[in-house]
Amino acid sequence: MNLLTAKNLAHTFEYELFNDVNIELNAQESIAIIGMSGSGKSTLLHLLSTLLTPKKGSILLFGEEISSMNKKRLSSIKRHDLGLIFQSHYLFKGFSAYENLEVAELLSGEKIENDLLESLHIKEPIHQKVTELSGGQQQRVSIARVLTKKPRIIFADEPTGNLDKKTADEVMTLFFNYCNSNNAGMILVTHDNDLAHQCDKVFHLEDKKLKRIK
Ligand SMILES: Nc1ncnc2c1ncn2[C@@H]1O[C@H](COP(=O)(O)OP(=O)(O)OP(=O)(O)O)[C@@H](O)[C@H]1O
Ligand SMILES: [Mg+2]
Repeated sequence: MNLLTAKNLAHTFEYELFNDVNIELNAQESIAIIGMSGSGKSTLLHLLSTLLTPKKGSILLFGEEISSMNKKRLSSIKRHDLGLIFQSHYLFKGFSAYENLEVAELLSGEKIENDLLESLHIKEPIHQKVTELSGGQQQRVSIARVLTKKPRIIFADEPTGNLDKKTADEVMTLFFNYCNSNNAGMILVTHDNDLAHQCDKVFHLEDKKLKRIK
């Protein structure tokens, strides 16, 4: 089942970042995007996850063109179907980790799962304030928050950047298992080549083109 199709995407800020980008994500599939710092990986993820509008090209989510969706449909898709895990995680700072998860629970109508907290090793500090957690703990809380809403597509930008190797591997295993058991897909941006090659497909963003290398 096709989850996302992007055709002929181009984007420009001060200069053209990339053009003629094509990508297709299916259910139970993981895609990694690698490339030098500044090549436009995060920007591409922002386009695919509806945070930015591409200068050229089209993006279909679950068979529907983003540009033809009305506001209500778009916000429903964002709330229920897209899970965004980005470089800076936007947890609500004044709240505890658990309260942050409750927000996801409330918005999506899904339940916080104990197993999820256990596999991310955040059961212990779950009632502490976000500001009292380490960077890696905050990152795992934001992963828990995203998975709590049971998205159909996970967009992850360096999701394991703050984590040690062992914890990073555990988090990645969790993502892969999540996709398989929930018929979901993942697009992952990473600087870690080994990690990228654990995904089904690997793309390299270089010289304004997205080239498939696996
Ligand atoms: N909102 C913006 N306005 C103007 N320029 C931007 C904006 N966002 C990103 N850029 C520029 O676009 C280029 C690509 O940025 P982007 O964040 O997509 O790179 P990246 O490949 O994710 O890099 P990194 O690996 O360091 O995270 C950079 O030169 C950046 O300065
Ligand atoms: Mg980036």
